[in-house]
Amino acid sequence: MPGRFILTFLAIQHVKNPLLSQSVATPHFTQEEKTPEVSLSRLSKGELSSLCKNLHKKVRELENLVQVVSRGKYTWESTFDAIAEPVMIVSPDYKVERANIATARVGKREITKVAGQKCFEVFAHRNTPCENCPLTKAIGGGELSRAHLGNKIHTKDFEAHAYPLYDEKGKLESAVMYYRDITEEIRLKEEVIQQEKMAAIGMLAGGVAHEVNNPLGGVLAFTQLLLQKTEKGSETYEDLVEIEHAATRCKKIVQELLDFSRISKDREKCPVYVNMLLEKVTPFVQMEIRSLNIDLQFDLSPDVPPVMAISNRLQQVFLNLMTNACHAMPHGGKLLVSTRFDKKAGDVLIAVKDTGVGMPKEIKERVFEPFFTTKDPGKGTGLGLSISFRIVKENNGRIEVDSHEGKGSTFTIRLPAI
Ligand SMILES: Nc1ncnc2c1ncn2[C@@H]1O[C@H](COP(=O)(O)OP(=O)(O)OP(=O)(O)O)[C@@H](O)[C@H]1O
Ligand SMILES: [Mg+2]
Repeated sequence: MPGRFILTFLAIQHVKNPLLSQSVATPHFTQEEKTPEVSLSRLSKGELSSLCKNLHKKVRELENLVQVVSRGKYTWESTFDAIAEPVMIVSPDYKVERANIATARVGKREITKVAGQKCFEVFAHRNTPCENCPLTKAIGGGELSRAHLGNKIHTKDFEAHAYPLYDEKGKLESAVMYYRDITEEIRLKEEVIQQEKMAAIGMLAGGVAHEVNNPLGGVLAFTQLLLQKTEKGSETYEDLVEIEHAATRCKKIVQELLDFSRISKDREKCPVYVNMLLEKVTPFVQMEIRSLNIDLQFDLSPDVPPVMAISNRLQQVFLNLMTNACHAMPHGGKLLVSTRFDKKAGDVLIAVKDTGVGMPKEIKERVFEPFFTTKDPGKGTGLGLSISFRIVKENNGRIEVDSHEGKGSTFTIRLPAI
C-alpha cells in the first residue's frame, strides 16, 4: 500500500506542473514544458481536484491514441493479408522483412517462418534469385520495375513488381515486391494464337479439300472401272491396285481436312454421356491394345453428368487420343481412361493417360498444330489432335496436355456439363 501511494505521488508530481499550466489540455506528447516546481502540499483542495481531472483526461487521450495506433496496425496487417496475391517487403539483399499470407501459401511455408529468409528461398524454393527478378533494377533505378519471371514458381508463371521504399530521410531501404499469377493469362493468349492459326488453316484446308475431292472421286471411280476390265495378276492390274490404294488414302486425308474445317451447328448437338461414349470407342482400339500388349484400365466416375455435343464428333476425339496413347507405347504400358465431375467449375473432365514415350517441350507445344506429326511418312497425317482440339472447342471445352519425356503423357478434356 505505501509503495502504491509513493508511485501515485511520484506520477502526480511528474505530470502536475504541465497539467496545471494547461487550462485546456492539448496532446503535444513530445513537447516538454519547463514550468516551475510546485509542491503538492501547497496546493489547495480545488487545485488538487483540477489536477486529478486533467490527469484523467490526459490518460484517456493516451488510451485513445494507443487505440488509434493499434487499430491502424490491425487495418494495415489485415489489408496486407487480404491481398490474394503474394506481397513482401524485401531488403536489397533479398531478405524478407514482411510477407502476407498469400506469400506463405504460394511458397508452401508457414507464415511465421518467412520473415528473415531470402525471398527466393521461401517463395520459389531456389538457391539463387529468380530469373529476371526486378528487385535490383528497382533499387538501382529508384523506380517501379516489373518483369515476367523466367522461372516458374511451383508450376505457375508470375509477373513480379518491385516498388522501392524510402525511409524518412529519403534513403532507399527496401522494396515492396508484388507477384501476379499470370498462368491463366498466358494460357489464354496461347489459345487465342492457336485458334487464329487453326481458323486460317481450317479455311484454307477446307477450300483445297473441296477442290481436290471431286477429281479424286473421279480417279478412284475410273481406277475401279479399269480394274474390272484388266486381267488379275497382270502388271497393269498391280499398278492399278497401287493407284487405288494411293487414291483411297488421299480421299481419307481429304475427308479429315473437310472434318477439320467443318464447324458444327449448335442444333446438331444433344446430351451425351461421356462414360458410355468412352466404352463404345474401346472396340476400335482393341487391336492395337492386344498387339502392343497394353493394359487398358477405366476409372469412370458414376456421377458424371451429360454434356452437350455431337456424339460422333466427340467419339472421334476419344478415339484419336486413345490411338495416340497406344502408338506412344510400342513396347506395351498402361493406358488409363478416367472421368470425373468438377462440381465447382461445373465441368466434366476426361483424362487419357499413358505410360509411353512422352514428349519434350518443343513437341508438346506443337501437337495441336495441323499436320504436325513425328510419325513416319504415310503413318500419320498430324491431323488427329488438331481436329480433336477443334471439336472440343466447338463444344465450349478445353483440351490440355501434360507430358514428361520417357514417362508418359496425359491429355485432359474439360467440357461444360448440362
Ligand atoms: N500420347 C502421346 N504420347 C506422345 N506423343 C504424342 C501423344 N499424342 C500425340 N503425340 C505427338 O503428337 C503428334 C501429333 O499427334 P496427332 O494425333 O495430331 O497426329 P498423328 O498421330 O501423328 O497423326 P494422325 O493424323 O494419324 O493422328 C504425334 O505425331 C506425336 O508426336
Ligand atoms: Mg493421332
